[in-house]
Amino acid sequence: MPFSSLEGLRPRPGQPIVILTGAGISKESGLDTFRDADGIWSKVRIEDVATYEAFVRNPKRVHAFYNERRRGLLSPNIQPNAAHRALARLEREWEGGVTVVTQNIDDLHERAGTKALIHMHGELLKVECEHCRAVHEWREDLSRDVRCPDCSRAAGLRPHVVWFGEMPMEMERISALLSEAGLFVSIGTSGNVYPAAGFVSEARAHGTPSVELNLEPSEGASLFTHAINGPATQIVPAFVDDLLGR
Ligand code: APR
Repeated sequence: MPFSSLEGLRPRPGQPIVILTGAGISKESGLDTFRDADGIWSKVRIEDVATYEAFVRNPKRVHAFYNERRRGLLSPNIQPNAAHRALARLEREWEGGVTVVTQNIDDLHERAGTKALIHMHGELLKVECEHCRAVHEWREDLSRDVRCPDCSRAAGLRPHVVWFGEMPMEMERISALLSEAGLFVSIGTSGNVYPAAGFVSEARAHGTPSVELNLEPSEGASLFTHAINGPATQIVPAFVDDLLGR
């Protein structure tokens, strides 16, 4: 459905747009989602690889999980898709400003050209040191033997990602952005994990129109002012064209 038919939702040209993305926007680039039938959590248990307790209990297992995903992301056949590129185009051309808040730990938004980007669940291509808190770009395998480039101590480096039970990043900044947004857009997320799943309710509380773009209606679909369903590489470029009045 062309966005022009959603006239009441179109923000005024000077108003900022906040866009939440999830694993669904990277699916057509070849990266697995989490809760689809063939998703990551159908193959490994969250409790074994995505909690701090799992890391303390079996660091080798957790490092292996993220090493495999890091290698996968760095393979040449994984590239940003038309949906990532459409959001970068929207940021370049929408006068009011666009901020992407992604739950994804891949770097496909950056590689597509998005600049105003918040990785609320961290980044797969970074590591952090538990001894000195330094954060570094990292594209190699990681293990307990690897020494921190800053403090030179071993057994302290972990993926710079937010595990279940840990606080997502930049939450105050995200709330401030949501309070000023003229439009809130959610793309490719199942609406299963908070606090991201609650952003649409924050938008509603501020009277901000909201649109969900997803392959199928998410858990929170009924909370959105409008929904557009289909594959991201088709519906996101069309939505951006509508927003820009193409
Ligand atoms: N185009 C658009 N949407 C898609 C596509 C596609 N090609 N393929 C799948 N989807 C949708 C699915 O229908 C689903 O609603 O993307 C959503 C992916 O949902 P999840 O797998 O739950 O991923 P996400 O919502 O990003 O998970 C949130 O949970 O496990 C944690 O930290 C992890 O950041 C992740 C968080």
